[in-house]
Amino acid sequence: MSNFTETMLAELREGVRRTMSEKRFRHTAEVERMAERLGTLYVPDQIMMLRAAALLHDMTKEYSPDHHLMICAQKNIPLTKEDVYAPKTFHARTAAVLIPEKYPAFATEELIGCVRWHTTGRRGMTLCEKLLYLADYIDLSRTFEDCVRLRNYFFDASPETMTEKERLSHLRDTLILSFDMTVSALLFEGAPISPDTLDARNELVIEKKAGR
Ligand SMILES: [Fe+2]
Ligand SMILES: [Fe+2]
Repeated sequence: MSNFTETMLAELREGVRRTMSEKRFRHTAEVERMAERLGTLYVPDQIMMLRAAALLHDMTKEYSPDHHLMICAQKNIPLTKEDVYAPKTFHARTAAVLIPEKYPAFATEELIGCVRWHTTGRRGMTLCEKLLYLADYIDLSRTFEDCVRLRNYFFDASPETMTEKERLSHLRDTLILSFDMTVSALLFEGAPISPDTLDARNELVIEKKAGR
């Protein structure tokens, strides 16, 4: 359980607002709201942490590719070819390494993990990592077809009426659909696919098939 207070979150929100465009901030604020909604369903004692992670998740998204590369070089972050040719995934990595110096009061392992994996997912995602990943995909500012489809898929099933076990299975199925849509879109674009995304997807598909 984190010790973040409403005052800390309000200050953080104002802090990040000053570092990004209005459009990015609108998305960020909506991800915070969606993180709160998902947190209420799944991790009531981690809501404040999830909201803080939402506020920080895209803090470096508007940096230029060169700026990201410079941070990676400075911080000794090893980059693979998939990383270099999928620059949209850089910001999760650079945000994760910059949080301890820019926002030390929020630099918990769990929060940094949520930010680090919000774009690609990974094998062995924590529950909070899954929730931030999903919040970022389905926040209410998103109108892209796949996002709307995923949001409807998740909420139309009325997860609030489910048992805990059903709700966790529903989260898993929602994430599988999200990874399948992401992979399909990347294939269609002829873009590289992060091995972390494939690992995340395969792990959940196997879990589902094994009936766990
Ligand atoms: Fe992002
Ligand atoms: Fe985002």
